[in-house]
Amino acid sequence: MTDIEIQKVTARIGARISGVDIAKPLDEATVTALRGALDEHKALVFDDVDLDDEGQQAFARHFGDLTTAHPTVPAVEGAPNVLPVDSERGRAANHWHTDVTFVLNPPQASTLRSITLPPYGGETLIASSAAAYRDLPEPLRRLADTLWAEHTNDYDYAVPDEEIDAAHAAQRAQFTSITYRTAHPVVRVHPLTGERGLFIGGFAQRIVGLSAGESRKILDLLQAYVVRPENILRHRWSPNQLVLFDNRITQHYAIDNYDGLPRRLNRVTVAGDVPVGIEGKESHSIAGDASHYTPVAA
Ligand SMILES: [Fe+2]
Repeated sequence: MTDIEIQKVTARIGARISGVDIAKPLDEATVTALRGALDEHKALVFDDVDLDDEGQQAFARHFGDLTTAHPTVPAVEGAPNVLPVDSERGRAANHWHTDVTFVLNPPQASTLRSITLPPYGGETLIASSAAAYRDLPEPLRRLADTLWAEHTNDYDYAVPDEEIDAAHAAQRAQFTSITYRTAHPVVRVHPLTGERGLFIGGFAQRIVGLSAGESRKILDLLQAYVVRPENILRHRWSPNQLVLFDNRITQHYAIDNYDGLPRRLNRVTVAGDVPVGIEGKESHSIAGDASHYTPVAA
């Protein structure tokens, strides 16, 4: 086993990992150590990695089976598990979300690797939804514990119609070419640590049993705890960097502050389990089959 060094970036989220070359095959002890670090710090930063798409997929595979690139968006040519997160191609990700929560079993972990970086801006924010849950005052925590939310990829992204050009309209049509709706517990129990986290984010559109208007208020109220500055890692990208984050207990946001300059990250995600709430009840699918996209992790 290598001598892994773990250096915290902030008190509540993020660690920098050194002493391990993730471009090489990893032994079991190293993977266990990385998994432990991920459980604790939620987001791990690896500097100076010498990886191509193949290598990124191989690294991610240490943590479980991979998903394909996306349920509705095509992969990088020749790399079926790699989603290009491209400022010139994808829809903007400058909204808080957890990846692909509209399917029954969203990815358990995501890796992002820097490909093209703008000269300034383009940071990724990653928030600990576990810290958010712990920050809730007792009455709000008790309320959150009882709630379920419906997540969907098909909602109004709040972009005024006149700002949608033909290219954006086509991307949106592709993104929603299959409509997914899934009910998840608002408080999810992490299967490895037992830790509780707020499992909401941008795809959560409706609290089960409440009107759209009531849902918005409750979701906004809870989301405010996720996006507290203390709960956020603001990651400034460097060339040849990979960030691995726990998609079960974080949210993230790509800041649109680089004047439309080229920015590209390649994403590979690890297939996840079906979320479980604090009473042991599992999420359930309302619409949309994602079996072409992801196996279900045990
Ligand atoms: Fe994302």
